[in-house]
Amino acid sequence: MAASRGLVTESPLASHSALVSTYNRAPLAFERGEGAWLVAETGERYLDFGAGIAVNGLGHAHPHLVEALTAQAQKIWHTSNLYQIPQGERLGQRLVDATFADVAFFANSGAEANEAAIKMARKYHAAGGHPERYRIITFEGAFHGRTLATIAAGGQAKYIEGFGPKVDGFDQVPLGDFEALASTIGPETAALMIEPIQGEGGVRNVDAEILRRLRAICDEHGLLLIFDEIQTGVGRTGRFFAYEWSGVTPDIMSVAKGIGGGFPIGVCLATAEAARGLTAGTHGTTFGGNPLAMAVGNAVLDVILADGFLERVQQVSLHLKQRLAELVDRHPRVFTEIRGQGLMLGLKLNVLNTDFAAAARAQKLLVIPAGDNVVRLLPPLIITEDDVAQAVDRLDAAASTIEAQVRGAA
Ligand SMILES: Cc1ncc(COP(=O)(O)O)c(C=O)c1O
Repeated sequence: MAASRGLVTESPLASHSALVSTYNRAPLAFERGEGAWLVAETGERYLDFGAGIAVNGLGHAHPHLVEALTAQAQKIWHTSNLYQIPQGERLGQRLVDATFADVAFFANSGAEANEAAIKMARKYHAAGGHPERYRIITFEGAFHGRTLATIAAGGQAKYIEGFGPKVDGFDQVPLGDFEALASTIGPETAALMIEPIQGEGGVRNVDAEILRRLRAICDEHGLLLIFDEIQTGVGRTGRFFAYEWSGVTPDIMSVAKGIGGGFPIGVCLATAEAARGLTAGTHGTTFGGNPLAMAVGNAVLDVILADGFLERVQQVSLHLKQRLAELVDRHPRVFTEIRGQGLMLGLKLNVLNTDFAAAARAQKLLVIPAGDNVVRLLPPLIITEDDVAQAVDRLDAAASTIEAQVRGAA
């Protein structure tokens, strides 16, 4: 059902669904996509500034990805991890070559990549003779996924309540509160886990200085530093990974979303030292790293790591940010600030973010609500200046609609 409590209403598409009602879906279905555009069943074209929540980094139906997937589909889809998977060896090596990491573990989603990261951190200490060090400190506003362990890691009551006892082993402190952090670190602490920019939490940037201090604290106490780059990674911020902006390297990093460009892939990257406990038989997955997924992941890297690609992302994101700054100035009653980096941007609102997202959708522009009353702009990394101009025009029109409704309601 469409949200009807807000200012902008839409008619429901289907009154009955056989699917579990875990999603508050918009009354809209898409048939195909082309680059930054999605075409609805009605034939209407939408400008996609959500990219499936930071997934379709290369837009829709990118010819190189379509070619890689269909070519692999003709050969072999799945063999299991009982055998060598050369496409996965290659993707792992390329990720290692381009990051701090020495090794990669492939999974199928972000939450699974984080589960691997959490298990790896615990097992690292167990392998070093300290199985009592299993607790992981996370930060308020975090989002790490929907499995039982990752909802405990995220710490948000709305995801935890009603699902039985919270998985033990997670402590949470306010972001940037180093006194709280110091008093929480104890003999059972194994690791700190943080998103370099909190995505679901409202595109909240974590200062490089905070990341540097966290690195130093980890080194001082023998803790592992885990970066969750599931949303920030694979070019989203204009660098391959967001940690590169700060110069701070983690011991373990989870990646998903953009690495598959729409094909489900998760990866846990780590130093050899951090991964020392995950020996044969200690962790695994049936589907993770299968040939289809790995073929697509390699194709994504062909494009993202090509000369000039990330520089272009930086250029177009600067242009978008400038245009958004003008927009915010024009509509102070709707917008309060712009947050984020690269093509992971947030607009903090004075009006309800779900109302604003619906108003943007009425202008045929897709944006994504987040915590802290923010809407996220997470367009494909391949957007042009023309796409930016069209998006800003549509945001402008959405803001004017909302202003008119607010005036009408007053
Ligand atoms: C930072 C972060 N971590 C973890 C996840 C969970 O990923 P998935 O939904 O693929 O399990 C998300 C998804 O939004 C995310 O943004």
